[in-house]
Amino acid sequence: MTSPESISIHSKLQQVQQQWTPKVIAQVNENLVKIAKLQGDFIWHQHDDTDEMFLVVSGELNLDFRDDASDPNVTTRKLREGEMLVVPKGVQHRPYAEEECHVIMIELTGVRNTGDVGGPRTAAIDDWL
Ligand code: NI
Repeated sequence: MTSPESISIHSKLQQVQQQWTPKVIAQVNENLVKIAKLQGDFIWHQHDDTDEMFLVVSGELNLDFRDDASDPNVTTRKLREGEMLVVPKGVQHRPYAEEECHVIMIELTGVRNTGDVGGPRTAAIDDWL
């Protein structure tokens, strides 16, 4: 029998140099487990083909939600250390953090961080640490 290696989230996070560049640390079936350091604002986007899980390891992450660009009613969810949330597929969201926060994300393979929008904030989709 082959014993899988244990993975230290904190050691992996120490290897992340840049904010907003998710790094893959494991694959679970068709899903990738990623870690990232986030600070400041991100863009509104959605992922039409996958749910996206955010788990905060340290700091605080805010997630804004709206129906579409014309929707004036933005709902904000604040995730503190140890809290998580699943963004359902197709739902517009915008992450932001006042101070640097560290997160674990789980989403299907082949998913762009900028979802349907793309553009300059797009990171590599399967950059392994
Ligand atoms: Ni997203």
